[in-house]
Amino acid sequence: MAEIAAPLIVPGVRPGLRVVVSAGAAGIGRAIADAFIAHGAKVVVSDVDEAALSGFRSAHPEHGALHADAGDGAAVERFMGEAIDRLGGLDVLVNNAGIAGPTAPIEAITPEDWQRTIAINLDGMFHHTRHAVPSLKAAAAAHGAAWITNLASVAGRLGFPYRTPYAASKWGVVGLTESLSLELGPRGIRVNALLPGVVEGPRIERVFQGRAQALGITPEEAKAQGLAKVALGGMVTGQDVANMAIVLCSPLGHHIAGQPISVCGHVFAL
Ligand SMILES: NC(=O)c1ccc[n+]([C@@H]2O[C@H](COP(=O)([O-])OP(=O)(O)OC[C@H]3O[C@@H](n4cnc5c(N)ncnc54)[C@H](O)[C@@H]3O)[C@@H](O)[C@H]2O)c1
Repeated sequence: MAEIAAPLIVPGVRPGLRVVVSAGAAGIGRAIADAFIAHGAKVVVSDVDEAALSGFRSAHPEHGALHADAGDGAAVERFMGEAIDRLGGLDVLVNNAGIAGPTAPIEAITPEDWQRTIAINLDGMFHHTRHAVPSLKAAAAAHGAAWITNLASVAGRLGFPYRTPYAASKWGVVGLTESLSLELGPRGIRVNALLPGVVEGPRIERVFQGRAQALGITPEEAKAQGLAKVALGGMVTGQDVANMAIVLCSPLGHHIAGQPISVCGHVFAL
């Protein structure tokens, strides 16, 4: 998996899709937002990082970038209202916001750290989704399809020692996804989860550092241990994840719903 997946133009993606990506000013969310823009979509992202938001605005002045903390229900309500007004409706919600949370034995995790992880990673998806669904239903009725794509993790299908709040939140995301798919599938809304594995970037370096500290090993050892549990070896990229997000909204993904889809090179343990 050494080579980076090239940006992929998938045939048949309806031009002008109206897309919201939470936490989309950097990282995987930014790769997803960029990919939708490359397919002719109109995109609004949220983020809490002002520098990342202004970087997004400079790169994409005709698209939207608004400050909103995914874990704050009132802020998400304002964000979703403004985004949907600006887009004139909504075809695609990408629930991307998620933090790594603490790395520590369960008895050393504070209730505040636990709650913050769940608040952003799981409650955040609830906040965005409840404000998106009326517009998504209208879009599906008008155009035949709409989509919710939730960023879970391979930690949403595997146990993850020392990362219990994160794993619990991501298993929750998979449960939310499968339940929403059953609820919204009959209305034409395709709800899926993407489960990235070890994704290249600054976040994963922080994760390796946290794990090294928790286990009393070096970050290099933590990284080697992590990558030894990937069948294809190596890391994936944000672009790999973005490519799958696009496929889901293309004719290639027309019958894919309710699925936890790993983009990970087959991570078999954490
Ligand atoms: N990076 C990985 O290795 C990896 C692996 C599996 C799953 N994921 C999941 O993919 C998603 C994106 O991960 P990433 O690595 O791109 O994240 P990241 O840490 O790189 O952050 C991406 C953006 O999220 C923003 N953000 C952080 N907290 C926020 C909040 N409360 N509200 C709004 N924006 C916020 C940051 O400012 C940043 O711009 C997350 O749900 C994450 O759990 C990531």
